[in-house]
Amino acid sequence: MGEVSADAVTLDMLREARETVRSSPLGVIDTPMIAWSQTTLPLSISCNIHIKLENMQRTGSFKIRGVANQFARRPAGGRFVTMSAGNYGKSFAYALKHFGSKGKVVMPETAPENRSILIQEDNMTFLHSYNDLDLIAGHASLGMEVLEVMPEPDVVVVCCGGGGLLAGVAAAIKLSGCSETKIYGVEPEGACTMYKSLIEKKPVGMDSKSIASGLAPPFAGRLPYELCQRYVEGIVLVSDEEIEAAVSTLYRSGLVVEPSGSAAFAAIVNNKIPELEGKDVVCILTGGNIGKAELMNFQD
Ligand SMILES: Cc1ncc(COP(=O)(O)O)c(C=O)c1O
Repeated sequence: MGEVSADAVTLDMLREARETVRSSPLGVIDTPMIAWSQTTLPLSISCNIHIKLENMQRTGSFKIRGVANQFARRPAGGRFVTMSAGNYGKSFAYALKHFGSKGKVVMPETAPENRSILIQEDNMTFLHSYNDLDLIAGHASLGMEVLEVMPEPDVVVVCCGGGGLLAGVAAAIKLSGCSETKIYGVEPEGACTMYKSLIEKKPVGMDSKSIASGLAPPFAGRLPYELCQRYVEGIVLVSDEEIEAAVSTLYRSGLVVEPSGSAAFAAIVNNKIPELEGKDVVCILTGGNIGKAELMNFQD
């Protein structure tokens, strides 16, 4: 993508994207946000937690939001290509099929960034799975929806891979006027590119490894990094064991959530988020694409 800066993300732009996503022919839904019942999900801290069920979203994750806005803002009949082995690829393929467009989903997200340049030369438009203004604006619709149910949350907890979702949600909430809301990102210990980027004050990469593959791209996105630096309170880290336990707890409570989608929950139950006592808290469960065999591995 070109050199788009965080200044390009305005409230008007996010409102427009929210309407685009809501009316998308891809059928993106307003996912339920439900009060966390202490009886089904016991928690040591006493606070008012709502969980946003993006695992119930069309294609099984929030990625369809960003994809809906990306496709709406590209010429109809174009040829598109992306790199993703995960949820982005699934939503991208769904959109291609729906619009009858030609395109390709190639290579895992661990492929070197410069491969995308080679692909672009093939006369196809490359769509990035996290470092893209339209995608981030589409993801921001999730933040807007949160505010429709809880107008001024104290704390919002969102997992972070390349940072597109976290950046979009944080921008939506802060630009909507919730200056007091604290937004935390959650990354796996073995794939903490945004955590390192905020320390080093520039987007950095690492040899990322985690069972939460959606949270383990090799680089933090540049635009997501700039937006996170501006709007996010901090990044907390969770171990793969904490993520596995979270998948298992959620499953026992009747919620099928994949490892990446469970990271925010893992951070809350392991007391990684500061000062939750008595607060209105939102926890985003970002995806539910997990097979039965993988799910059973996590059950003790
Ligand atoms: C379920 C799930 N949650 C979170 C993420 C992270 O999203 P982002 O790369 O926008 O930070 C992904 C990315 O694939 C994902 O699949």
